[in-house]
Amino acid sequence: MKLSGKKAVITGGAGNIGYAAAERFLAEGAQVLLVDRDELALHEAVEALASGQVTAWAADVTSSASVQEYVQEAARLFGKVDIFFNNAGIEGPSARIESFPEDGFDQVMAVNVKGVFLGMKYLPPIMNDGGSVIISSSIAGLMGSGGFVAYTASKHAVIGIMRDTAIDLAPRRIRVNTVHPGFVESAMLLRILRTLRPGVADAELLQGFAAQTKLGRCIKPGEIASMVSFLASDDSLMATGQTFVVDAGTLL
Ligand SMILES: NC(=O)c1ccc[n+]([C@@H]2O[C@H](COP(=O)([O-])OP(=O)(O)OC[C@H]3O[C@@H](n4cnc5c(N)ncnc54)[C@H](O)[C@@H]3O)[C@@H](O)[C@H]2O)c1
Repeated sequence: MKLSGKKAVITGGAGNIGYAAAERFLAEGAQVLLVDRDELALHEAVEALASGQVTAWAADVTSSASVQEYVQEAARLFGKVDIFFNNAGIEGPSARIESFPEDGFDQVMAVNVKGVFLGMKYLPPIMNDGGSVIISSSIAGLMGSGGFVAYTASKHAVIGIMRDTAIDLAPRRIRVNTVHPGFVESAMLLRILRTLRPGVADAELLQGFAAQTKLGRCIKPGEIASMVSFLASDDSLMATGQTFVVDAGTLL
């Protein structure tokens, strides 16, 4: 078990990818604190994970006070943290640039950029030297798609946060990397697809996206968790400041 004895914090821990990462971390021997703003989903996630090694804490990553509270809870539970999956994110609205709502832009930046920044500011001080931080970006951090200016900008921005903090934290051997999922079979992807093509059945929507991948299908959340767990573990000990794409060959 390659994460045996490690202590992990996952933001967006009640969502598809956060939950899959929690499952993987637990299977690899870690203790996990799930952080999410959705209390009901958190409760359901803890029940479903059915492990004595997982607990949850409700927090809003856009609020400095709330972030400092989840960090305090992690310190109370674990003392020191080894793995920080800085993952909470929202897709926000979809509209062409001329009609893109300003408040929607601000909201996406608050969660996807400020939330990641606040996590980087407050959690590493309670990490063990030699720990690992993984930030959720997206293939939208490496390309544009049209109609998603806020999401695309936010996922590019966290690459900057990753590169800068990887340098700041290197003296403590804390590694910082981004993971870039492509089309993941998830509530978030389905919400996006339903907006783009209202009235079309979910299976057909996913099939359309699967056709855009060279490997011929959408990705399962557990397949993102595999990369996250690799980056969390000593198997990636000398990788820092890097972008790790898991997109089934979409960007080729
Ligand atoms: N699903 C995909 O296809 C996909 C692709 C590329 C990147 N991503 C990225 O992966 C990450 C996880 O996505 P997912 O598919 O699990 O989405 P999801 O919607 O299932 O999960 C996101 C979680 O973040 C939580 N959250 C949102 N705002 C929050 C806030 N202010 N404070 C605390 N928690 C908050 C939500 O409650 C939710 O549980 C996101 O950053 C997303 O942008 C997802």
